[in-house]
Amino acid sequence: MMAPNYHSLMPHNGQPGHESTRGVLRSTYRRTTGNEPGRFEVTVELIGEQLAPGDLLGMCTGNAIRPAEASTAIEVESLATRLTLRPEPPDLIEGTNRWTIPDLLPLWPATHANDGPVSAWIERGDGTTITLEVVPAELDPAEPPPDRPASTGPTSRPASNLLPRPMTMTSEGTIRTRTAVHIAADPTGRWPAVAALAGRLGVDVATGDTTLNLHVAVDPDLGDGRYDLSIDGATARLVASSPRAATHGMITLAQLVAGGVPERVRISDSPQYDHRGLSVDLARRWFEPAVVERLIDLAAWRRLSHLQLHLTDDEAWRIPVDAFPALAEVGGTRGHGLAIGPLCGSSAAPYGRAYTRHEIARWVAQAEGLAVEVVPEIDIPGHCYAALVAVPELRDPDDTGGVRSVQGFNDNVLIPGPATTRFLQEAFGSLADLFPNSSVLHLGGDEVPPGAWTKSPLAAEYGRRHNVEPGPQMAGYLIADAAQAIADAGRGWAGWQEVAEFSNAIEPSYVVAWTSRAAIGQMLDRGHRVIASPADAYYLDMAVDDRWTTPGHSWAGSTPMAATSDLDLAGYRDTAGSLLGGQAAIWGEHISSLEALDELLLPRLDAVAEALWTGKTAGRANDISNRSHYHPTVLRQASLAAEGTHR
Ligand code: ACM
Repeated sequence: MMAPNYHSLMPHNGQPGHESTRGVLRSTYRRTTGNEPGRFEVTVELIGEQLAPGDLLGMCTGNAIRPAEASTAIEVESLATRLTLRPEPPDLIEGTNRWTIPDLLPLWPATHANDGPVSAWIERGDGTTITLEVVPAELDPAEPPPDRPASTGPTSRPASNLLPRPMTMTSEGTIRTRTAVHIAADPTGRWPAVAALAGRLGVDVATGDTTLNLHVAVDPDLGDGRYDLSIDGATARLVASSPRAATHGMITLAQLVAGGVPERVRISDSPQYDHRGLSVDLARRWFEPAVVERLIDLAAWRRLSHLQLHLTDDEAWRIPVDAFPALAEVGGTRGHGLAIGPLCGSSAAPYGRAYTRHEIARWVAQAEGLAVEVVPEIDIPGHCYAALVAVPELRDPDDTGGVRSVQGFNDNVLIPGPATTRFLQEAFGSLADLFPNSSVLHLGGDEVPPGAWTKSPLAAEYGRRHNVEPGPQMAGYLIADAAQAIADAGRGWAGWQEVAEFSNAIEPSYVVAWTSRAAIGQMLDRGHRVIASPADAYYLDMAVDDRWTTPGHSWAGSTPMAATSDLDLAGYRDTAGSLLGGQAAIWGEHISSLEALDELLLPRLDAVAEALWTGKTAGRANDISNRSHYHPTVLRQASLAAEGTHR
């Protein structure tokens, strides 16, 4: 099979080949003093044709933007970060191919170019669209160049490339750079999956100048998660407490082969935390299935244990549910003229789709073989705009609340009642069927807008029947219904930290503390099992610095490598052993390309992986960054053997 071309796997402005670009949008951001949000000047220029009366400009921006009063544009429609404008006066653009709008105001100050316009199109009176190429927003005045150029390679040769570092390791003797691993005995049967992983990442473990004969044994008495790996000349012995631990030992062996195998090695290793996760947002952005496969590989290579897939949100619904086919058919694709218009950096052309059963089954099998547990998430009861558009009976047409979510969606909550109860049963039942190996299903539960359900007659009726005030408490009822559906499927449930607001007959398997580092302690104090994912350290969609051209969000502040590696989970009071581990998260709003995905993900994911495996990374940011260069990214294959004698 030909290797996929990863550069083509994440369309930015719609599906490739759908529409040609016949114009360009440029923008400039000028800061203002104090708390004023500054302003963008935007210029549209058509190439080889004129703007016509009735033309509208549509665009998606990183942060919501609105025209100032008395501008040369008037808002026709807006939703979250989408804005549609008409010229003012209406004949302003007649007979020209340029339209300049000097004063578009962001709702809060812009920090990075990707806060400005990221996709744009012209809507013509006849219903057609012209996709515009969007040049990243410029800052005026421009920023001075950085003090130091960005590092492009390792700063020094690490003594060992292994990542995460094993708990204890000694080695000596000649380094063998081309080593083939031959299985002498493997009762776990795990080696073929690890060898295939190595192969996909560019590490040849099948051919070489020397051969290592690998003897694998399982000894449950060894202790939780532990494996011992020893190498003596041509013999390697791996003793592991479980097949899962054996997989970890084999991945360490594959990393040794990649960097060069010393004559003699002694490794004794076990993870500090059982839950070492990465959460990926597949709703805001559409990633081809092969990109998800690559992310499973990257997680496994770093001995991560869990991959959370955020499969639904306001912007898309990405899984099939038999009883509600519209969820995938309508909720999976957005674009101009579709039920869900362009959002989050997609343009006029149809963008994305739901994943198929076959694609999901491939992820499940791949992850299983590599000791990665997938945690699939359907996010309810908020973040449901796409589901509500696809299945209108889940909303109340008479809801007059107009309550806005933090991302700018109105009334994006499920309305409690019989239709929603059935929907929750079907949706989470389907999720369980699609992910048969997942012991935990995640039900979201985050960011329900304050004021939700207070102006809905259907919610009021539900409230009378259940003796509950129509308002925020209703989230607890919907979460309980979803938890029950998950329990009926024989699985545990998890949610974001907001689910801790409600007592639930079925205890969550864990809650994910995300708003701050303090939230980790608060969730532990409430007696929950906790996964740490604080936004200011583990949200990898936060930009790494404040420079204008650096991609990413900044709502939790910029997050340099050291902010991630210095998070010390051992510092939390956890007498009951309830801090199960942590999880990096990469939200999709600013992932405009696979290059941006790589730039945001790594090396910070390596810091998370090492912190959760070893329990200690404070002060190791440079060391981890250095080793990270020798490991694969989404776009970079590992070519470690070619690096020479590193090990
Ligand atoms: C979240 O970041 N809303 C969980």
